[in-house]
Amino acid sequence: MIYRIAETASTNDDAKSPCYREGDIVWAERQTAGRGQRGHSWSSAEGENLTFSVVLEPLFLSVGEQFRLLQAVALALCDTFAAYGIGTRIKWTNDIYAGDSKLVGILIEHAYAGSKLARTVVGIGINVNQTEFPPELPNPTSMALCTGGRFDRGQVLDTFVGRLSARYGALRAGEYGALERDYTALMYRLGERHTYALPDGSRFEGIIRGVLPAGDLLVEQGEGEVRKYLFKEIEFVLKG
Ligand code: BTN
Repeated sequence: MIYRIAETASTNDDAKSPCYREGDIVWAERQTAGRGQRGHSWSSAEGENLTFSVVLEPLFLSVGEQFRLLQAVALALCDTFAAYGIGTRIKWTNDIYAGDSKLVGILIEHAYAGSKLARTVVGIGINVNQTEFPPELPNPTSMALCTGGRFDRGQVLDTFVGRLSARYGALRAGEYGALERDYTALMYRLGERHTYALPDGSRFEGIIRGVLPAGDLLVEQGEGEVRKYLFKEIEFVLKG
């Protein structure tokens, strides 16, 4: 069920309440403390976009398999945009890009039951109709900027719910090979030579070759050597 509310601090916090169950969605018009990855905030113009959180109870996944869930969510988003004629790619681990610009941010938070994922809140911010953004955002875009049109946000959300149901169903059925293949095929900068930065500030040229089932990014560098990187161990260097 979709719960639409006018204002809250963060839908991710609301969705943690046990009153919401698998498949429920909390959608807020305005977040006063919307949260992004790496401790950043998430800003979104009121009435223009989609800011919502989906509750999942993926008890069939072990803690070590959480990247598979992220794959299913990212693919469901790309499927959604494809339905509106917008080509997107997945910037590892979990941004959705149109060209070199960010269309969606995802903030996934898990609660564990022993070695299993008991409850996962998937927070999603989709830039839908917003066409002007604060200058401090490095590279935002929206469905409107991508196409020149405006979109019915409820319809976009319904489309996403359908696509998520399909990808989550595939995940539950253990169709990991298909999810891995589709995720890899849609990776931003796959097979292209670009600059990457390491936590110590050093930079190198590399080519993304794919991702491991646990989520490590595979980057080829130097004389064909492929190294793996975990989240926060490597940064994409975006052109200014
Ligand atoms: C990112 O930094 O890219 C992740 C952004 C996630 C934003 C969404 S908006 C709905 C949900 N509630 C939050 O507080 N954050 C997520």
